Amino acid sequence: MIKRPRRIRGNEHIRRMVRETRMDKSSLIYPLFVIDGENIEEEIPTMPGQFRYSVDRLPYELERLSKAGVSNLMLFGIPAVKDAVGSQAYAEDGIVQRALREGKKQFPDLYYITDVCMCEYTSHGHCGVLCGHDVENDQTLELLSKTALSHVQAGADMVAPSDMMDGRVLAIRNKLDENGFKETPIMSYAVKYASAFYGPFRDAAGSAPAFGDRKSYQMDPHNRKEGLKEALLDVEEGADIIMVKPALSYLDIISDVSREINLPVAAYSVSGEYAMAKAAAKLGYMEEDRVICEMAVSTYRAGAEIYLTYFAKELAKFMDEGRIG
Ligand code: PBG
Repeated sequence: MIKRPRRIRGNEHIRRMVRETRMDKSSLIYPLFVIDGENIEEEIPTMPGQFRYSVDRLPYELERLSKAGVSNLMLFGIPAVKDAVGSQAYAEDGIVQRALREGKKQFPDLYYITDVCMCEYTSHGHCGVLCGHDVENDQTLELLSKTALSHVQAGADMVAPSDMMDGRVLAIRNKLDENGFKETPIMSYAVKYASAFYGPFRDAAGSAPAFGDRKSYQMDPHNRKEGLKEALLDVEEGADIIMVKPALSYLDIISDVSREINLPVAAYSVSGEYAMAKAAAKLGYMEEDRVICEMAVSTYRAGAEIYLTYFAKELAKFMDEGRIG
């Protein structure tokens, strides 16, 4: 026997030398919920260990992130009032806009990305304006563009539309360009499936649709080629980064997209993936730390360069300790 694969697995030194997947803290993005009100730091019941912060409490969490070496965050807003057209999404004193101003003032070195969508702001919980029971694509584009612009005006470094309306990347690009923000990048949630793994998030944000589901705009999990179609369209519309979401059940899609397009690929390990790992660990069914690492490694190995995860702080620590990376 001259070929012995075990030769390069014999000890930790050589195992680390021959690693094919390398990760770095600079590629982590931490999703964070900000809520209207004061002095609020409330744990999200379906996502133990994750909290909703009012703007006055946000800096404490930003400090923890910063100390952990996680320098990128994605902001989600939970407004006090919702209405049919989600007007708090693009209000100058909206929750995300205020969080951005406060965050930027106190922690200017962090990189602020905002989720651009309507579902947290509409009374019906859909990701756009309604016409009857349907989400009206083209009218929604104007509201999304206004939202993105107001985020950037309040200090966002990057915007990330997650609504899955057709043409929204181009609409946002045009709006930002017309207003002098030519250099602000767009990370598109380009390949976003209609997934049950968003369940805990919808609890966290109070954004579950009041009727029906999101299947007329988010993608059917059976489809693979359609993922590439969505990614390529957003490339043409001027997206700077393409995201695939969720991560763990969609590694084939991450792999396809990263092979076929020449933009950085991000993958979002969503709330349900987090909740699943947490719940199993709590029951003693799996080792939490190792599961967190394996979920991350598999996502990078599939081709993601950027990883959005509620475990960002834990992963940063594991990277510092050399357990992964
Ligand atoms: C907003 C949005 C959602 C998520 C990110 N942006 C919810 C949804 O589409 O229903 C999900 C994130 C997660 O589950 O962690 N549209």
